[in-house]
Amino acid sequence: MSEINNINDKKKVLLTGGAGYIGSHVAVELLESGFDIVIADDFSNSSEESLMGIRKITGRDFPFYNIDICDKLSLYDLFEREQIDVVIHLAGYKAVDEAIKSPLKYYQNNIVATITLLEVMDAHEVRKIILSSSANVYGESNVIPVTEECETGRCVNPYGRTKWVQEEMLKDVFTADNRWNVVLLRYFNPAGAHESGLIGERYSKSPSNIVPSLALAANGDIPYFKVLGANYNTLDGTGVRDYIHISDLSSGHVAAIEKLFGKPEVSIYNLGTGHGYSVFEMLGTFEKISGREITYKIEMARKGDIAELYACCNKISEELGWSAKLGLEDICESAWKWHKNYINSNE
Ligand code: WQD
Repeated sequence: MSEINNINDKKKVLLTGGAGYIGSHVAVELLESGFDIVIADDFSNSSEESLMGIRKITGRDFPFYNIDICDKLSLYDLFEREQIDVVIHLAGYKAVDEAIKSPLKYYQNNIVATITLLEVMDAHEVRKIILSSSANVYGESNVIPVTEECETGRCVNPYGRTKWVQEEMLKDVFTADNRWNVVLLRYFNPAGAHESGLIGERYSKSPSNIVPSLALAANGDIPYFKVLGANYNTLDGTGVRDYIHISDLSSGHVAAIEKLFGKPEVSIYNLGTGHGYSVFEMLGTFEKISGREITYKIEMARKGDIAELYACCNKISEELGWSAKLGLEDICESAWKWHKNYINSNE
């Protein structure tokens, strides 16, 4: 059989950051699609519980390396021990507000670590990579919905700039050596949790993202939800985003792997739903799903935030036959179920 026809026939995928929120869900999707996986994670933004959740959901085990991918020797050792076919690079910091306060921490972890990873991959003749990129690379786009052809690099925060630099590095690596096969996946707003309630986003009582904040307010764990800005030039004045269920986002990665076994190139895809929802629409949906009234207060807009951003997803649909299947209610339902499991297990 050709390599393309049996791509998931025991192909081994390395997930850097595979114990994280996105990584753990991608791990489940890969295992359930017949791939073998290896996870490398330093637990800086994740925990052992996520690994247990992956094993419980799939009934499958996998090698785990508790390493920082900035540690070249440890990463080299992993590639010596494991026959890696594909790398999905998810390891990285992702909080915009934290990046504004600590830019060098973000440049070190998101950029330097990626250089180390690419050098070790190349030394082992592993040149198929999917990069976890972000819609932040578009900055404040004047084209909505945003397409992959829209201008990038006009990022409005250091986090977005690190994702843009990662993309540009991979384009340059391919230009220098076109044996590389690269897929850049630009995530919009990943949200929700696996339907089992066994894995999900782990957060404190003061998360930056909207869905954990709504869950905390709905559950009475915080006194109210903060609406961060209500004077944007949008339908109801609040920020509009493209919220994609984490399970849809994960299946998008499996679809993207197929591309890595075709002609070597750099392929770029938006990973979203193609629909934008406002903060008030998300709040109303969460109230409906949880059956709880959510107290809120309108506060100043957050530094580094933009008014509106949602994806045009025609390219991934036409080229990979993938599209999001789940909507806002599925996101809120799964996030609410996860929150009650997660908060209770952390009391
Ligand atoms: C969404 C909307 C807020 C919290 C960030 C990263 C992005 C990706 C997802 C990594 C905005 C409003 C939020 C709250 C609110 N992460 N909001 N009250 O900022 O679009 O994207 O997370 O890939 O790269 O930039 O997501 O969930 O923080 O905010 O009103 O308590 O909800 O103003 O309009 P964001 P978010």
